[in-house]
Amino acid sequence: MCGIVGYVGSLRADDVVLEGLRRLEYRGYDSAGIAVVTEGTVASAKRAGKLVQLETALSESALPASGTGIGHTRWATHGAPNDRNAHPHLTRAQSIAVVHNGIIENFARLRAELEDADYEFQSETDTEVVAHLLDSVYDPATGLAEAMRVVCRRLDGAFTLVAIHADEPGVVVGARRNSPLVVGRGDNENFLGSDVSAFIGYTRKAIELGQDQVVELRTDSITVTNFDGTPAQITEYEVTWDAEAAEKGGYDYFMLKEIAEQPQAVADTLLGRINDDGLLVLDEMRLSDDDLRSVDKIVLIACGTAYHAGMIAKYAIEHWTRIPCEIELASEFRYRDPILTRDTLVIAISQSGETMDTLMALRHAREQGARVLAVCNVNGSTIPRESDAVVYTHAGPEIAVASTKAFLTQVVAVHLVALYLAQVRGTKWGEEIRHHVEQLAQMPSKIEELLTTMEPVREMAASMADAQTVLFIGRHVGYPVALEGALKVKELAYMHAEGFAAGELKHGPIALLEEGMPVVAIVPSPRGRSILHDKVISNIQEVRARGARMIVIAEEGDTDVEPYADVLIRIPAVPTLMQPILAVVPLQVFACALATAKGFDVDQPRNLAKSVTVE
Ligand code: G6P
Repeated sequence: MCGIVGYVGSLRADDVVLEGLRRLEYRGYDSAGIAVVTEGTVASAKRAGKLVQLETALSESALPASGTGIGHTRWATHGAPNDRNAHPHLTRAQSIAVVHNGIIENFARLRAELEDADYEFQSETDTEVVAHLLDSVYDPATGLAEAMRVVCRRLDGAFTLVAIHADEPGVVVGARRNSPLVVGRGDNENFLGSDVSAFIGYTRKAIELGQDQVVELRTDSITVTNFDGTPAQITEYEVTWDAEAAEKGGYDYFMLKEIAEQPQAVADTLLGRINDDGLLVLDEMRLSDDDLRSVDKIVLIACGTAYHAGMIAKYAIEHWTRIPCEIELASEFRYRDPILTRDTLVIAISQSGETMDTLMALRHAREQGARVLAVCNVNGSTIPRESDAVVYTHAGPEIAVASTKAFLTQVVAVHLVALYLAQVRGTKWGEEIRHHVEQLAQMPSKIEELLTTMEPVREMAASMADAQTVLFIGRHVGYPVALEGALKVKELAYMHAEGFAAGELKHGPIALLEEGMPVVAIVPSPRGRSILHDKVISNIQEVRARGARMIVIAEEGDTDVEPYADVLIRIPAVPTLMQPILAVVPLQVFACALATAKGFDVDQPRNLAKSVTVE
């Protein structure tokens, strides 16, 4: 949520910053802006709307050449998304420019104080207080970094701040509390970004800034201190993917590329998970086997698509480990005073590792003594850093706002967690675990095969651009798939869509049905759990009897569904618990094609941001 870039070096800062903003635009696209230090002043340009508006403005009136600059792409919180509220925010004398991601909770009090001291505000944002506060405490003898430390100590809430000062060419200062900020170490140039994609075209050497730290970048130095001024430890790491991974690679949209990457992403999640003794290996496990054996309850917390992965995790974990498992929306979790003990294992699922609702829920869980395991995609992000154990999904960068490959890999990762727990606690034999892992290992080729059959799904979606509503129904692990299918349609096609537990339809939602209304049913495998299969067929009949148009997703060879399907989408046969890994794929393709048919930008749906760093 909000993308931030900083650069100091010998290249033109406005070009480098603009390129970084292009890669971070998925974090927010309400407005964009850049500021550079030049000849004793700060020059800036900013525009409401997507980055292209700023690019047009800059092509008409370029910023002066400078090697020191900052930039911002906004997801609005305080103040409407207009030019005035766009970042960077400058002091009246144009000596300081600042960009911000997060919410400064005590901004109203600070603003009143600054107004009493005759500071004039140009915007309605919480950010502008920081520009004026920096001005009020700035001392040329101690510089911008010290001013930033002093100001940060006065701020409440979540913030990443990056600032420049007219009198300090060659210096960019950043700070973070709760929101993300990463440093990129270059060769006689250094970078700041909300995530590494901002500078991946220049360097793969990165340093994750810790909580309550300030960084001062110069061309030849990176100095990190805590808010109190004491030196901070820094750990550099090498980013494992390159700039190409963050490009569209010939696809019209990142989402299409990310859907196509799913076989590889799932293969990467599984890579190296079984050691020579046939035992499962997770990434970072700071919990002992004894800790895991003493777990008597598991609580899964997540938001959005990751929450649907968590719902599937509950089925897998309870089935394989017999540990009671709850799943809860991270934004609700801590406010109901949940019962947590040292023997509770909380599993936080998050693609970005930065979602504030999930982070706050995780912190609450740890404060209550529970242990936390993170399932995360972004290496070194805040959620895994603050957890006791981590399973990375290794899906590579996911840029499209609507999550696809991250979801599939989350589902695979939670299967691995379930099997790991079963292994440690002895609820499954080694042979059984190996068998399940072998079945997971077949998923990449099955997804690959499924992706080659999606043309009819695209055609169907294109013909449905005028539909008002789409309903999705499923049972067991098909229920979270139904919710995910509906979420994708809402996010991308801005249409009313709802997912229901198929058995629940008759308790109310069936009243929504009208002649011709499209209803998508996810049908479980007829093998093994055939009662479940038969029950869904009954639910399909109930729906069809009321005139709905049935779009059925069913396993290859399931002939029972044929009489009841107006449209039949086949998926390869797999064990029930793994079916979501395939069943969700046509739903992703469907929502993407539906949105495209309606003329919407699927990578940047309105009002959304990929990484939501406010509560
Ligand atoms: C936002 C995104 C969703 C995502 C959710 C959780 O709402 O738009 O696509 O599922 O955040 O994000 P996380 O990074 O925690 O998985």
